[in-house]
Amino acid sequence: MTIRILGIETSCDDTTAAVVEEGREVLSNVISSQADLHERYGGVFPEIASRAHVETIYTIVTEAMAKAHVGVEDLTAVAVTRGPGLSGSLLVGMNTAKGIALGRDLPLIGVNHIEGHIYSLLLSDELREVEFPVLALIVSGGHTELILMNDHLSYQRLGGTLDDAAGEAFDKVGRMLRLPYPGGPHVEQAARDGNPSSFSFPRAWLDGTWDFSFSGIKTAVMRRIKSYFPQMDVGDEPVPSGLPIADIAASFQTAVFEVLVEKTVQAAQEMTAKAILISGGVSANISLREAAIERAGEIPVHTPSLELCTDNAAMIAAAAYWRYMAGHRDGLEIDVLPTWLLE
Ligand code: KG4
Ligand code: ZN
Repeated sequence: MTIRILGIETSCDDTTAAVVEEGREVLSNVISSQADLHERYGGVFPEIASRAHVETIYTIVTEAMAKAHVGVEDLTAVAVTRGPGLSGSLLVGMNTAKGIALGRDLPLIGVNHIEGHIYSLLLSDELREVEFPVLALIVSGGHTELILMNDHLSYQRLGGTLDDAAGEAFDKVGRMLRLPYPGGPHVEQAARDGNPSSFSFPRAWLDGTWDFSFSGIKTAVMRRIKSYFPQMDVGDEPVPSGLPIADIAASFQTAVFEVLVEKTVQAAQEMTAKAILISGGVSANISLREAAIERAGEIPVHTPSLELCTDNAAMIAAAAYWRYMAGHRDGLEIDVLPTWLLE
């Protein structure tokens, strides 16, 4: 029997549903972004996010099923993100998944969002077989986690950010530079024309730990911008002409990636990992990919295809496949876990 799983992911500001076969074959992967709703706030506004999920989820699930050319009777299980994420947003996906599972007597499988990002790598052709242990770096708007996997579904959290997530720092710097929301891809684009050694922004090495910190660099960028225009209140006014946006973006990006890559490769070497898996929204960044490949040397570095870097439900269905195969089933009484760490 073909294992065919419907995945639902609503942990943050994207309403997403997907159908995946055998944990690998993406039959459909539908994403409705709320970016335009949150743009004016410069970040995700939780109440607006959950309300938008409520309005969109039915359409998105229906579309995912239609695009996959399957009916509910063709599904083996329903998978849903339990956390981490915004509780109101998570609840919309959870209740939708429970409704479908209850209505059709299908198994329900709760998945960790970070686990989903890791399993997004297994949807790519380049990573058909995984040889463990692998070292996973998940870098997104909400998370920066370094996780050692000794087997499928076996996670050991080595460290993570103590303050801002890497993507969050990109978004905040993007906002300071008046780039569109979310800032990450726009900072990357601006950085292409910049000199990465124009400014030496601080690197928080946090030696002796596998943790990260990005709040210091964010403040340093803010101070640098203010130094050009002391009278300006960063955050309110338009960026005056003359600000070296490209150089600031390039220097900021380089500093963030230097720490991320160095610590990830060191951890991989120390843990004798067979490969490095980088996923999450920030893994779409080409400079990060290139820096990681160069620094990792002989250790292969894998990143998801671009559409699977940011939040999507295909990765949730992929992770659920491995849980299903391991006999994992959840009851309808499960709740969302907004602060669920993967360990
Ligand atoms: O994985 P994701 O969709 O959501 C979370 O789980 O948080 O990641 C979104 C984050 C945003 O912060 C966005 O700015 C960042 O990923 N991002 C990037 C790039 N593309 C997306 N950051 C740097 N460079 C990029 N090309
Ligand atoms: Zn994510």
